[in-house]
Order: sequence, then structure tokens, then C-alpha cells
Amino acid sequence: MPDIKIQCFTPDSRSYEIERLAHAHPWSLSVFCQSHGPAYYNRQLVVDEETVGYIICQQVLDELTIFNIAIDPKHQGQGFSHYLMQDTLNYAANNGMLVFLEVRASNTPAISLYQTYGFRELAKRADYYKTRNGYEDALVMKWQSEQN
Ligand SMILES: CC(C)(COP(=O)(O)OP(=O)(O)OC[C@H]1O[C@@H](n2cnc3c(N)ncnc32)[C@H](O)[C@@H]1OP(=O)(O)O)[C@@H](O)C(=O)NCCC(=O)NCCS
Repeated sequence: MPDIKIQCFTPDSRSYEIERLAHAHPWSLSVFCQSHGPAYYNRQLVVDEETVGYIICQQVLDELTIFNIAIDPKHQGQGFSHYLMQDTLNYAANNGMLVFLEVRASNTPAISLYQTYGFRELAKRADYYKTRNGYEDALVMKWQSEQN
């Protein structure tokens, strides 16, 4: 059995390496480093002492927004994102928070992950994200605990 831990984290070279490896359009190092602090609920997933992914969320009053979730490509497809999603949604449910996110309309793996947890599409922002050749839509999604 692997040793699996979910921990608070501050940006470091390993987490930014995952950011660059996992995303086709990674955040800049400065945006990555700024997305931490008291207004954030950020967790990293450590498997057998290796950081394999993280989730970055901003909290404002009773709303939590998932800004970023990433798993190192060499560890994808093994169920690791579920640990981060479950931890984050437990936190939101325990604190009576709604959860929002935006995702590229072409990001099938992420949309499928979010739908698994009951996220519903709230709106579409046309041509919101840059692509290599132009722009693509963003889906705005919302999650609410069944307890609320
Ligand atoms: C989205 C992401 C975090 C999923 O992480 P993962 O650890 O590979 O996913 P898991 O193996 O835990 O799978 C969780 C769910 O994601 C979905 N999923 C994962 N890979 C998928 C794929 N290739 N195609 C379709 N759905 C997929 C499925 O719904 C899956 O549910 P299941 O376990 O019931 O099959 C990962 O693909 C990633 O880091 N992508 C790049 C960064 C990104 O796009 N982040 C989201 C926007 S910020």
C-alpha cells in the first residue's frame, strides 16, 4: 500500500515543475507563487514521500473557487485527483461553502472529474481562454453540498 498524505503547501520547485508538466498553458511562476496565503485553501498530495499533485483554491466568505488542480502526468490515470477533490469538498461541506470553478471547454478529463463530484455547468464564457491558434470557451461550474 502506498503511503498517501494530503498536506498544506507553499510553492516550491517541485510543485511548479508539476504545473509546467501538467498544463498545456501553465501559470507563470509569479502567478503560481502569488496564489498562496491566508485567502487560499491549498493542498498537495504526497505519495511515498513524492509530491504528485496539488489543488489551489481561493476562499472568499462562503465561496471556494478551485483555481488549479494538477497531477504530474507520470502519475495521472491512477485515481490520485480523487484524494484532492474529496479533501477539498469535505472542507467546503464542513464549512457550508459553495464551490465554483472555470475550466476549458476542451478539457474532457477535468470536466469528467468535476461531473463525477456533482459539479453542474452554470454558464459559458465565450472565447475566454487563449489557445495556440485562437480562443476557446470556459465553462463555469458550481458545486453545492447536499447538506446545504
Ligand atoms: C484533471 C486531472 C487533475 C485528473 O487527474 P488524474 O489523477 O489523472 O485523474 P484520476 O485518475 O484521479 O481520475 C479521476 C477522474 O477524472 C476523469 N478522467 C481522468 N483522466 C481522464 C481522461 N483521460 N479522459 C476522461 N476522463 C478522465 C474521470 O472522470 C476519472 O474518474 P474515474 O476515476 O471514475 O475514472 C489531470 O488530468 C491533470 O492534472 N490535468 C492537467 C491539469 C488540468 O487540466 N487541470 C484542470 C484545470 S485547472
